[in-house]
Amino acid sequence: VKHLLGIKDLTPEDIDLLLRTADNFKDVLQRPIKKVPILRDTTIVNLFYENSTRTRISFELAEKRLSADTINFTASGSSVSKGETLIDTVQNILSMKVDMVVMRHSASGAPHFLAKHINAAIVNAGDGINEHPTQALLDAFSIREKLGGLKGKKVALFGDIMHSRVALSNIYLLTKMGAEVIVCGPPTLIPKHIEKLGVTVSYDVRKTLEWCDVANVLRIQLERQNKPLFSSLREYSLYYGINKELLDSIGKEIVIMHPGPINRGVELNSDVANSKHSIILDQVQNGVAVRMAVLYLLAGKKDEAFG
Ligand code: CP
Repeated sequence: VKHLLGIKDLTPEDIDLLLRTADNFKDVLQRPIKKVPILRDTTIVNLFYENSTRTRISFELAEKRLSADTINFTASGSSVSKGETLIDTVQNILSMKVDMVVMRHSASGAPHFLAKHINAAIVNAGDGINEHPTQALLDAFSIREKLGGLKGKKVALFGDIMHSRVALSNIYLLTKMGAEVIVCGPPTLIPKHIEKLGVTVSYDVRKTLEWCDVANVLRIQLERQNKPLFSSLREYSLYYGINKELLDSIGKEIVIMHPGPINRGVELNSDVANSKHSIILDQVQNGVAVRMAVLYLLAGKKDEAFG
């Protein structure tokens, strides 16, 4: 069984195939009838042990556009509250003839653990502070769409790098595809030795903005910090927040990205998030085509026409 557990395990050729397949699905999604019958024989469960707006809806929409049958499971309101284990939960669902599992979990490595114990394709929709592979794929798709490619592009990841699975998946993907990457944030929110992954560390927001073509701004993940790692959100905004005044003073075009949810006025001001330089809603739109590509390739439909 093939899985998508992380970008770490993919080759540049795998990533290129996924992005090119997503191009085809983006074309499909521009048609008046957006639905294709490719996965009409497939049933998929969206298993969310952690909250989500974009990823859950995007996967569900991707599955529906591919004509798959879908089931949405959220841990709250399920028998997880009675002590049922992850493996028992999934095995019970799979016994009802479910073929694929899309899974989000707050524990890093949960989908990797599950992949060892069940006989179905697993797609990681975000595991703890480890990876969020479909987010990195949709981010790459969006950069490529806006700037024409990834190789040689200068991408800065701003914010809470320490707790961000989006950052780690982006770092793996962008470095594999030949982009240059700087991570920028407060020292307490940048992991030690991250340079070993092929990125440069900066603590200077202005200099990093002067350098980059793309600024991907990440949220401070307070829910993953036992103790706050920055003095206050107000001070974070003052020293590390990105606003129009700062960008105007730099005077160059920078593509602004954010995986969502945005903490407006903290890491990113509305005057930037809503500006013409922002591709934040394009990222969300592209997520559907990217997830269609992931499900299509994992289901082994590579040789089927797009309908
Ligand atoms: N980008 C992202 O993963 O958003 P959600 O948590 O809303 O799915």
